[in-house]
Amino acid sequence: MHEQIRQAAAFVRQELGEIPPRAVVLGSGLGVLVDHMDGARELPTAAIPHFPVSTVPGHAGRLVAGRLDGTPVLALKGRVHAYEGYSQEQVVFPVRLFAALGVRALLTTNAVGCVNRLLRPGDLVLLTDQLNLMFRNPLRGPNDETLGPRFPDMSAAYDTALNQCARETARELGLDLKSGVMAGLLGPSYETPAEIRMLARLEADVVGMSTIPEAIAARHLGLPMAAISCVTNFAAGLGAGTLNHAEVTDVAEQARERFSALLSALLARI
Ligand code: HPA
Repeated sequence: MHEQIRQAAAFVRQELGEIPPRAVVLGSGLGVLVDHMDGARELPTAAIPHFPVSTVPGHAGRLVAGRLDGTPVLALKGRVHAYEGYSQEQVVFPVRLFAALGVRALLTTNAVGCVNRLLRPGDLVLLTDQLNLMFRNPLRGPNDETLGPRFPDMSAAYDTALNQCARETARELGLDLKSGVMAGLLGPSYETPAEIRMLARLEADVVGMSTIPEAIAARHLGLPMAAISCVTNFAAGLGAGTLNHAEVTDVAEQARERFSALLSALLARI
């Protein structure tokens, strides 16, 4: 693993040159942000040695170094998910690559369903904690001490200082940023109404199929990470209709302007 990361990092440095110290992972509906970067240098992730390649429509992989509203940022469009058949270790490869490239702060975004009845589609939610219901862990197996400790602390899965900064940024922009706990399930099937009632009892606020392993890997590396979710739908049984991926990407796209304004202002401060 260590050698794979080293090779990937050497390749990315050679192709992209200087790497910005902050990275952002763009989830469903937000990928277009990479088209708004200035002075962009980019790579298809398929060209990066050992980088897992996404199979989901709307997740075509690109790694872009450039400026977002003037701020140097390394942006990844197209993460991979465990439900595609990748191991958790493959899923967190980009996070480990970022750390090897010298990234010092990571911001991730994703699409989620809302479980908490105070939330609704279109809401932006800052994650404060997580429930790992994927029953998988990217750190399973021999520990690579060069990456981090065998038993990393998870008292603050999401970085407290970055979260504080995100709240202040939202306040200054006059944007409503909610906060909550994300339950992460493996997917790819959406949850049943009974599963959502269970998640509500477990005090999950939102539910999704990504981000959880990334937060674990980032904590292991000591890489501060924050995550902002876009609520794209009422979780199963809470809304009127059924769930589908098109609805998820549509709603995420509708929230894009607010979401990108927040990301861009936050990246400028971290
Ligand atoms: N459940 C799980 N993952 C999701 C959902 C959902 O309702 N919406 C977007 N990603």
